[in-house]
Amino acid sequence: MLSALALALHALAAVVWVGGMAFAYLFARPALGALEGPQRQTFWRGTFARFFPVVWGSVGLLLATGYYLTFVTYGGFANVGVHVHVMHLLGLVMMAIFAHVFFAPWRRFARAVDAGDRQTAARNIETIRKLVAANLTLGLLVVAIGSSGRFWP
Ligand code: HEM
Repeated sequence: MLSALALALHALAAVVWVGGMAFAYLFARPALGALEGPQRQTFWRGTFARFFPVVWGSVGLLLATGYYLTFVTYGGFANVGVHVHVMHLLGLVMMAIFAHVFFAPWRRFARAVDAGDRQTAARNIETIRKLVAANLTLGLLVVAIGSSGRFWP
């Protein structure tokens, strides 16, 4: 029963994190082209201030439930399929990228927007854009691997 709960929470955390990145990158970003630069920066300032704490929650849940499933449900990494090893490695890479985004360009971006320094803000949101693109790509890959792996030959 706890394994079922862990897997459900694991999948939900992945959906919220990867789905949020997909919405930001594929839908909000292109639509914002119609707005002026300062308005776009204000939008991202408010959006990421709400989204990033949720991503921290997803990271915590993915780790806790992922290790629960690995160690308690399956009895350790020696007993899991190759898809779990790949998910684990790529998941840790995604978390490192997110932690970097949060502590470096996001902090600089938020401070710059608050101070009205549009150039610094523009430079840092561009870095965030590239890293979110990388994490979205990895996230889609990890979801495909994590969910299909149990049927691999
Ligand atoms: C970083 C540490 C992680 C560990 C230790 C871990 C571990 C696991 C394990 C043991 C399973 C069950 C696999 C099976 O029964 O065949 C699983 C499933 C899954 N994981 Fe992870 N995972 C991690 C990170 C992630 C991340 C970052 C994502 C996505 C962003 C993710 C997405 C999924 C998905 C979609 C499933 C399948 C859920 C379903 O049954 O539909 N995992 N994971």
